This record gives sequence, structure tokens and C-alpha cells, in this order.
Amino acid sequence: RLIILDFGSQTTQLIGRRVRELNMYCEIVPYNKFPHDATDVKGVILSGSPYSVYDESAFKIDLSQIRGKYPVLGICYGAQFIAYSSGGKVEPANSREYGRANLTSIDPQDPLFKGIEPGSQIWMSHGDTITQLPDNFKIIASTNDVQNAAYHIEGEQTWGVQFHPEVFHTTDGTKLLDNFLNICGCAKDWTPASFIESTVAELKEKLGNDKVILALSGGVDSSVTAVLLNKAIGKNLTCIFVDHGLLRKNEFENVLRDYEHLGLNVIGVNAKDKFYRELAGVTEPEKKRKIIGKGFIDVFNEEARKLKDIKWLGQGTIYPDVIESLSITGTTIKSHHNVGGLPKNMDLKLVEPLRLLFKDEVRRVGIELGMQEHLIKRHPFPGPGLGIRILGDITPEKVRILQDADDIYMSLMREWGLYDKIWQAGAILLPIRSVGVMGDERTYENTVALRAVTSSDAMTADWAHLPYEFLAKVSNEIINKVKGVNRVVYDISSKPPATIEWE
Ligand code: XMP
Repeated sequence: RLIILDFGSQTTQLIGRRVRELNMYCEIVPYNKFPHDATDVKGVILSGSPYSVYDESAFKIDLSQIRGKYPVLGICYGAQFIAYSSGGKVEPANSREYGRANLTSIDPQDPLFKGIEPGSQIWMSHGDTITQLPDNFKIIASTNDVQNAAYHIEGEQTWGVQFHPEVFHTTDGTKLLDNFLNICGCAKDWTPASFIESTVAELKEKLGNDKVILALSGGVDSSVTAVLLNKAIGKNLTCIFVDHGLLRKNEFENVLRDYEHLGLNVIGVNAKDKFYRELAGVTEPEKKRKIIGKGFIDVFNEEARKLKDIKWLGQGTIYPDVIESLSITGTTIKSHHNVGGLPKNMDLKLVEPLRLLFKDEVRRVGIELGMQEHLIKRHPFPGPGLGIRILGDITPEKVRILQDADDIYMSLMREWGLYDKIWQAGAILLPIRSVGVMGDERTYENTVALRAVTSSDAMTADWAHLPYEFLAKVSNEIINKVKGVNRVVYDISSKPPATIEWE
């Protein structure tokens, strides 16, 4: 495996994803948790950081245990830290450097830049710059503004790059990372098929003849988890799929059918009334989330109690949830609730077969498992469902209006070939009414907002620039067909500062 030491950069996860895309298994660990005892480490990448090396609170480690022992690549802060800790000089750049640049010169002999030509576009994002390299550091690439854009330590398998090879805008970034993996002698045999084979074997070994329970949500992560577990233990897996009355139109029936096709043993529970009753009159977003979250646990526990001898709780946890966060401004914006597990009082052991996968890998595994595309390519959908897309209090009538509007929007999005180009989309029912005119009648009805965003990880997102003709069609269909709606608006906010969901 390859180890990525996380110094707190926002792009650390992206480094991990790029390495995995190159079919190399890697793990992201906090900067001070290097697995010194491991015998299978092939190489090390040091990430960027929000700190400057000369900050009091900067994350620092003793590199003597790592340099010389493994091939090392420092990225941004990682490169600065290696240079600084060897006696080089790092100072604030005259002007902070963000954005596109081009490599004006490259050392054609250096293996890190094999196959990369001068002129190649890179992405810079740094406030500091290395102004002086230690003697045995050799410059291997420069830009017009940054002389020390990349270096190689002579006589040592250690490199540093000031730019970010992991981001999309560094055109040859993946090539550079691949070159580094080759330097490390990585086998690059991490594929969905090999993952499935080894995971199913491990699950068989770990679970034996034990019984497992799992909550399905209709989403990709829990579905792939279920199919993997089913492959390993078959009928010893029982899945529970709860209808909280806040799913998309016909979603419960459709997804249940899909699950049955997959051969899963699923108990579908209709708990609509319970949720509508408990949510009646509640308008505060966090309170709604808490009620829905707790409701899930109640229903799940009740079903689980009816089953005998359950030992394990399966969960669709994926890698981004697992990576120990070094978030420096760790505030809770919304209390996310995942349908997966949570019943703490059940005394079950946890089994999370996807805990080391990124989202795109989960999808690749699902396809390899033979799951239908529409299950795999499904947009993310929040656990609390339409409950956080009906602003204000929730009633069955509002759910009906929103389900109908959302269904028209999503069906047209598929019809127009837009669905797969969008990260996530949905309709929101606003708690305002406005005046309209239909025929000769004055109307005073609800407003529906449409949301569609592009994103790669939901951490940041941009509003999707959907064609006007498409929006016109959707608006027209909704207003004509959904009783109770006389106005449709389109949300043009990006995240940040907005969020994807409205509540
Ligand atoms: P925000 O609104 O925070 O959403 O930009 C980011 C992503 O998370 C999804 N989301 C949730 N998913 N339980 C979930 O499983 C939740 O409580 C929840 N809230 C938001 C949201 O749909 C988007 O993909």
C-alpha cells in the first residue's frame, strides 16, 4: 500500500482518489500516525496543509524515519516542509499564487516527469514559496513565477512539487502520480474485481454462520453493501427498508422490486403514519432531522427484535466518513443522518465492507457485481428525504405536491439525457404562496424551487447550467399538472456559501 500523510489539506482525499484510480491501494492517515511497524508500505505522499511551516501550530513530524526508507513525494506544504526541515527557506510569496500556471522548464531525465513536456498546465494554490533549496536539492521543474516548482533530492528517492498534481486542472497530474507509483514499484492491481474477491472471502471468514441485519436506503452505498454481504452469506443477511413517507414518488415500490431482483432478503416496512404524526407542526430543520433519525431507529429496532440470533449490523459506511478528519474549523453545519445504523443499544458488532472505498469505487464495485445501472448511478438522496425539502411543517398533502413536482422534474431530466451529467437534483416546496392567474381565475398557490448541482464530492458544488428550454418545459409541466403549484423558480446558488439541500 501507499501511505498518504494528511497535513490537513482540502485536497488530501483527492490525492487518495487519484492513486486508487491508478489501481493502487492507498490509505490516508493523520500526519503523525505513520504506520512505522507495517511491512507493506511502498511509498509515502505528504499532503498540503492550511498552515505555513513557520506557524507555531504547524503540523510537524520527524522525517528521518521515512526519508531514505521509502520513496517520498511532498505536495505543496509537504514539499515546503521537506525543504524547510533540511535547512531550506520558505517565505510568504510576494503575491499569493492561486490557479493556472505552466511549467516552463522540466528536467527530461527525471523519472517523476517522464512523458511530461514543458508547457504542461499545472494548478497552484499556495501562500508560501520555497525561496532557497538546500544544497543537495535539485530543481527539476519551474514556472515563470516559481523557480522551485519541483525538486528531487540527490542520492535519495525524495521529491517535492509545489503545485497540486491531484487536481483536475493539472493536466498531467495523474501521469506524474503514476510515475511516482512506478518509482515506488507499486503493483497497481487494486481493481473492483480483486476487491470483491478478497472482501467476500474476508466476510465469509469473519461472519461464518452468523446472522446480519442491514438497513437499506435505496442509495448506492447501502445497496452495494447488501449485495456484497449477500454474496458472502446469502440468506443469513436480512435487510430492512423503511418507508418514512418522505421518499420520492413510487420509490419504495420500485426500489423494493429492484432489491428482490437482486435476490436480497428484504423486509419493507410502511411507517408513513408514524412519521407524519411525529412531524406534524414541526418547522425547525434540525428538529425535523432529529425526529426522522430517531423514527428510523425505532422502526429498525422493532423489526430487528422480531428476528432471532442477530449478531452483526451491516453498514454502508464509506471511506470519506472514516478518514480521521483534521478539519481545523470543525463546525457542524447540519446533523447528517445516515439511514445505515445507529441503534447503539442493540449490542451488535459492526460490519462495514465498504469502509475503505471512495464513492466512485463503490459504483465500480456495484457494476462489477452486476447491479443495474439505474441503482448505481442514482443521485445522492438525503436520509431525511423530502422531509428537508419541504420547508416548514410537513403534511401528507405537501408530500403529495412535492412528489408530483419532483417526479416531473426527474423524469424530464432523464428524458433529456441530463440525469447522468448532474451530481444531484430535486425539487423543493417553499413555504410561500403567491398570486397567479389561470384562465380567468386568480390563483394563490405554492411555489416550487428546482435545484440541480454539479459536484465531485458534495463538499463543494456549483448550480448546474441547465438549458433554458429544459427549464421552461419543466416549469410548464409542473404548473399545468401539479395541483396546488402556480410558480416555479430555479436555484442559482453554489456551495459554499449555500448548501445543496435547503434545510
Ligand atoms: P448539504 O446540504 O450539506 O448536503 O450541502 C451535502 C450532501 O449530503 C446530503 N445530505 C444528507 N445525506 N443524510 C444523508 O444521508 C442527511 O441527513 C443528509 N443531509 C444532506 C445532500 O443530499 C448532499 O448530497
